[in-house]
Amino acid sequence: MSTFTDELKRKDIRIGLVPTMGYLHEGHLSLFQLLEGRCDLKAASIFVNPIQFGAGDDLDKYPRDEIRDVELLESVGCELVFAPSSDEMYPADFQTYVNVEELSKPLCGKFRPDHFRGVATIVLRLFNITGCSMAAFGLKDYQQARVIEQMTRDLNLSVELAFGETVRESDGLAMSSRNKYLSKKDRELAALIPKSLEWVKEQAASGVSNYSEIVAGMREILESKPGVEIQYIEAVNPQTLEFQSEVGEGVQILIAVYIGGTRLIDNVRISMSGVKRLV
Ligand code: PAF
Repeated sequence: MSTFTDELKRKDIRIGLVPTMGYLHEGHLSLFQLLEGRCDLKAASIFVNPIQFGAGDDLDKYPRDEIRDVELLESVGCELVFAPSSDEMYPADFQTYVNVEELSKPLCGKFRPDHFRGVATIVLRLFNITGCSMAAFGLKDYQQARVIEQMTRDLNLSVELAFGETVRESDGLAMSSRNKYLSKKDRELAALIPKSLEWVKEQAASGVSNYSEIVAGMREILESKPGVEIQYIEAVNPQTLEFQSEVGEGVQILIAVYIGGTRLIDNVRISMSGVKRLV
C-alpha cells in the first residue's frame, strides 16, 4: 500500500481517507461527501482493529461483509480500499502505541481502558501507510473524534481532518454497525436514546440546566421500559471533555447504554440558538 501511495504522492495526487472497521452504513458513506473537491483520490480502510477491543468486547462477533462494503464504497466514488489482515498489522513483535493521555481517560475511557490507545495507534498508522492528506470521521464517536484531533495536533501530522454529523435512522437512532446485533424488541428500545437526547435539548432551551436534573429526566425516559442499562450520562466541555455541572450553551452530552448486551453510544451538543431537532 505504501509503495502504491508513495507513487501517487510523487505525482501530487492528494489522498482523502475514510478509516472504517467495515460493515458500512449511510453514516460511513456520508463521510465521502466531506472529501469531495478537497482531495484527488478517495480511499477507505477496512480493518477491525483488535487492540481497541478489550476483554469481553465484541471483537470475534464484530460484523464483517467485505464484498458488500467494497460495492458500497465504489458507489460513492471511493477508488482505493486498504483492508489488511490482523497479522500484517500486528506482527508478533509489535510494541509501539500512541496514548492521548487526558482525553482518553473519561467517558468511554473509564469503561474501556485501552480503547483510545488502540484507536490512536491504528489511526496514526493508517495515516502513515496511506499517506493521506485528509481524513474524515463521524461525530457519533465524539470522544474518538477529539482524541484523533488532539493526536493530529500534538504530533504535528500534516493531515487535514473533517468530521461528519451523525447520520440517523428515521426514529433518530444513530447509525452504527452494532445496530445489527439488536433484536426487534431491542431495536424499539434503542429509540429511547435519541428521545432522551431530544428531551435534554428542549430542557436546556427552556432553562433547565442543572446536571442532576437533566440526568434524572434522561434516566426516566431511558428506563420507561425495561431493558436499557445505562453505563453513563455525562455533560462535558466539548474540547477538554471535563465535567460540566451546568448544562448550558455548547456543553456536550454523551451517553452510553447497554441494550440486550449491545453497547450503544450517542451524543448531542446543547445549542440555545433554537432547538435543532435530531431528526
Ligand atoms: O470509528 C471506527 O470505525 C474506528 O474506531 C476507527 C477510527 C476506524 C479506528 O479503528
